[in-house]
Order: sequence, then structure tokens, then C-alpha cells
Amino acid sequence: MKILVTGGAGFIGANFIYYMLDKYPEYDIVCLDKLTYAGNLSTLEKAMQNAKFKFVKGDIADVEFVNNLFAQEKFDIVVNFAAESHVDRSIEDPRTFLITNILGTQTLMDACRKYGNIRYHQVSTDEVYGDLPLDRLDLFFTETTPIHTSSPYSSSKAGADLLVLAYYRTYGLPVTISRCSNNYGPYHFPEKLIPLMISRALANKSLPVYGNGLNVRDWLYVEDHCRAIDLIIHRGKIGEVYNVGGHNERTNIDIVKIILKELNKPESLITYVADRKGHDMRYAIDPTKIYNELGWLPTTTFQEGIKKTIDWYLKNEKWWQDILSGEYQNYYKKMYEQK
Ligand code: NAD
Ligand code: TYD
Repeated sequence: MKILVTGGAGFIGANFIYYMLDKYPEYDIVCLDKLTYAGNLSTLEKAMQNAKFKFVKGDIADVEFVNNLFAQEKFDIVVNFAAESHVDRSIEDPRTFLITNILGTQTLMDACRKYGNIRYHQVSTDEVYGDLPLDRLDLFFTETTPIHTSSPYSSSKAGADLLVLAYYRTYGLPVTISRCSNNYGPYHFPEKLIPLMISRALANKSLPVYGNGLNVRDWLYVEDHCRAIDLIIHRGKIGEVYNVGGHNERTNIDIVKIILKELNKPESLITYVADRKGHDMRYAIDPTKIYNELGWLPTTTFQEGIKKTIDWYLKNEKWWQDILSGEYQNYYKKMYEQK
């Protein structure tokens, strides 16, 4: 079995690569990543020592490059994590999001069609459903909740999802989609809420909480997401969407306070700042379908997961300090261009 993992130098893709190399030592894993600001090759340093793993630098929206890669490698499954993923950046520069997230998805699926109707999995997000009101805690996103997006990021992911389903219906491409809630864990880029707050609290810097801090996210430990994707690509039903989430809803301010408490830092570091434009209020996933069909349940509680995550950031300070200083962008040069 040979699997193409795109975006594997980013947060969830890298965790997925380690999960798969460990669980299926007989599989070949190829990672295709453009190494944007969010891609960090040093994250894959240990994977590079595994003979069953190969890294390729390239753009999922580059038709010629992608076709050449598919012609050479003969993939059995493609799992597409590659994306522009940060909502705040999408508000500043939507175009890059449309190119990578929509045209990149199209390019990969066209290659899947051309090189043998290859099984394709799209890693999507609960953000395609828009948001839920704070005063209706009885409401959850199911797979049939209408797509209703708020940000250029979520709109680009929704566009991609619709295209994936269209490729199933129109061309019979064997596809699946997972829509997961917010992930946290090792290798999370320090521009996102949890790693940003950990790294800033450790440096005794102010912690910027948007608006009143009462927006709710449904947090899932990244390994539980990886396990869900593993189940879907092996046993999921073709043409189906699976929601992934662990009923772990928390307000942003609670998350920040938990981190401060774990790090023994004062709440006086919290600074309320201007709200994000179009800021979604609440995300909450109903994961009944993936539980009923594939037996998936999260295994890491938030209490355990946040401790593990903070511990990882404490033990791997060089990893995120290199990101903050920009040093990580030299890693590719050192590993490839100067050899
Ligand atoms: P990330 O930003 O950490 O990583 C994205 C990776 O994609 C980077 O390595 C980057 O270099 C690469 N990439 C970007 N553009 C590319 C291109 N044109 N060609 C090839 N590679 C490219 O993102 P993440 O948080 O790991 O998210 C991975 C996927 O999971 C995304 O599709 C995202 O929408 C989805 N998702 C994320 C979350 C979350 O909480 N982080 C939740 C649900 C779904
Ligand atoms: P983020 O990690 O960007 O994920 P998403 O927007 O995709 O859910 O943000 C999580 C929540 O934290 C979101 O409600 C915005 C908020 N937030 C802050 O309050 N301050 C920050 O500095 C960041 C990055 C996010």
C-alpha cells in the first residue's frame, strides 16, 4: 500500500504520518508539501530516517508537477491535508486560500482520475457548517447540516468539499470527506490559539483574546483525528462525509485560563483585543455517524491532552523557538539544497 499524504509538514499531516508509519510499518508513505510558512521540514526529521517514508517538495495546485508525481509513484490512496489553514490570514489574503484549497483539491482529484481512479480522502473542517448560537446548546453539526460559511478560509474548504462530492457523483471517483473540529497537540503552529498562548505565556508576554473570549470551540487531541482518518480510509463508505469531534466544547477564555494555570502564570497576562471580523460563535460536532459506522470514539480526554500538549511544548522549545525566529525555514536548504 502506498499513500500520498499532502501537507504532511504541517500540524495534523505530520501527526498522521507518524501515526501511520508506526501502525503500518509495511506501508509506503510519500509526503508532498509546498513548505509554505506553515510547513516545517524539521517536524519530519524522524520520519526521514524511515526507509518507507519519502518527502517531496511541491505544490498541490501545480498540474504538471502533480501529474508527474502520480505517474512515477502509483499511489493507492491520497489523503489531502494540504491547505492554507489560518482564518486570520484568510481575512487578509483570500486568494491564496482559493488557489491551494480549491484548485489544489481539483488538481489532486484530476490526477486520481487520470492514474487509475485512486481512492481520495479530503481532510475538511467543521467550519464549513458556519457557527451555532451560544444560547442553543442543544444544537450540533451533523453531516446533513447545511454548508453556511463565514470566513474566506471556511468558504474555500466548503468549495473544495462540494467539488469532492461532485467528483464522486459525476466521475465516480472513490472519495470520502472528514469534517473535524479544532485539533490540538504536538507540532501545532504557534499562530493558532493553544500553541500561541503556551509560547507567549512562557515568555511572559500578553495573551491576546479576541472579543469577550466567550466563543466556543470543540477541541480534539490530534491523535484521535488521525485515528478517525485511518478508519475512514480503510473502512469508510465511498461518497460519504464523516464528522469528527469529541464533545469537548470550551470557551476561548477557559482554554487560556487552563493554560495559565498549568504553567503557573498569572491571569494578568490576558489582554482582550479587537474581535476577529465575522468571528464564529460556537462550533460543536455530533460524531454519532462515525461512532455508529466505524466505532470511532476519542480516547484522549481534554485534561490528559492539554497536559501532554503543554509538556510537549516545554520539552520541544527549540521546535517553536525556531519558528518564532524564522530559523525553521533554513531547514530545507540544509537538508536538500546544500547537499
Ligand atoms: P497547517 O497549516 O499546520 O499545515 C498545512 C500544510 O500544508 C503545511 O505544511 C503547508 O506547507 C502545506 N501546504 C500549504 N499549501 C500547499 C500547497 N499549495 N501545496 C502543498 N502543500 C501546501 O494545517 P493543519 O492545521 O495541519 O491542517 C491540515 C488540514 O486539516 C487542513 O486541510 C485543514 O483545513 C484541516 N483541519 C484543520 C483543523 C485544525 O484544528 N488545525 C481542524 C479541522 C480540519
Ligand atoms: P484558531 O486557533 O485560529 O482556530 P479557528 O479560528 O480555526 O477556530 O482560533 C481558535 C479561537 O481562538 C477562535 O475563536 C479565535 C480565538 N483566538 C483568540 O482569541 N486569540 C488569538 O490570538 C487567536 C489566534 C485565536
